[in-house]
Amino acid sequence: MSEALATHAPKDSGVPAFARDFGVQDRVVIITGAGQGIGRELARQFAAAGAIPVIADLNQKNAESVSSEIAAAGGSSLALEVDVADKGSVDEMVAAVLKEFGRVDALVNNASIFATLEKRPFDQIPLAEWERVMKVNITGTFLGACAVAPSMRKAGWGRIINISSDSVPRGTVNYLHYVTSKSAVIGMTNSLARELGPFGITVNCIRPGSVATEVERTVNPTAEVRKRNADLQCIPRGMMPTDLVGLMMFLTTPAASFITGQTIACDGGYTHSN
Ligand SMILES: NC(=O)c1ccc[n+]([C@@H]2O[C@H](COP(=O)([O-])OP(=O)(O)OC[C@H]3O[C@@H](n4cnc5c(N)ncnc54)[C@H](O)[C@@H]3O)[C@@H](O)[C@H]2O)c1
Repeated sequence: MSEALATHAPKDSGVPAFARDFGVQDRVVIITGAGQGIGRELARQFAAAGAIPVIADLNQKNAESVSSEIAAAGGSSLALEVDVADKGSVDEMVAAVLKEFGRVDALVNNASIFATLEKRPFDQIPLAEWERVMKVNITGTFLGACAVAPSMRKAGWGRIINISSDSVPRGTVNYLHYVTSKSAVIGMTNSLARELGPFGITVNCIRPGSVATEVERTVNPTAEVRKRNADLQCIPRGMMPTDLVGLMMFLTTPAASFITGQTIACDGGYTHSN
């Protein structure tokens, strides 16, 4: 990375200067899978901008730790244990949020089987692993939408943001379960947007590039692979969780009211949608 680029790269800690400009104060934003990685950073940034993130994760200890981090920085949040693949658990999560705050302004369907996933040739993926990836990454997104829709419909307002992956247009090899699940999320976004649009609810999908987080992955890209990928982007530097903050916040605001059913790449220009 050149020195000029390094200077302009956002730092991975602290609040980007623009975060408070989005007017997300007091917004109740459920972020699933926010106990670590991208979700954790989104929760920290939303809280720093005055919103109330609900940190919902299968790993309750991690969720509480993120909530404590936010409290130490002066923000508000709620930590909840949830299994997004379990309808009862997801319904309980939303009921708890409605009881506490009376509304859900936005749901970010971020939880996924990702960092722990092994890459293997498609015909060596155990069926149980395939099914678990579908259940968490696809069914989890569906259940989240089902659970928040009634209160959002009633409010005549709502934002659902799903997370896909650049592995879909790349057709990443040895990752068939993950790529298939993240492709399904795009189709789900298109249809949900049509069904929920008449109620003032927008449904969009963010398609991140490869994001370095604090989490060690089962298959960590090597420095060479990271550099090669970065060199293929219009903005040739590694991507960090903070790179997703502006787009995510914008989509939750009234300014984005007429944007729905879209999958928006945030990948430094690695891929193009036209
Ligand atoms: N990091 C990247 O390079 C990258 C790139 C493209 C897309 N994504 C997507 O972005 C999102 C976040 O990625 P990440 O790197 O932070 O992933 P991660 O694997 O580090 O974190 C995923 C989180 O989801 C939680 N989770 C897993 N199963 C769950 C369940 N059943 N119920 C509730 N929570 C559950 C985990 O406990 C964990 O906290 C995912 O949807 C991922 O697929 C990541």
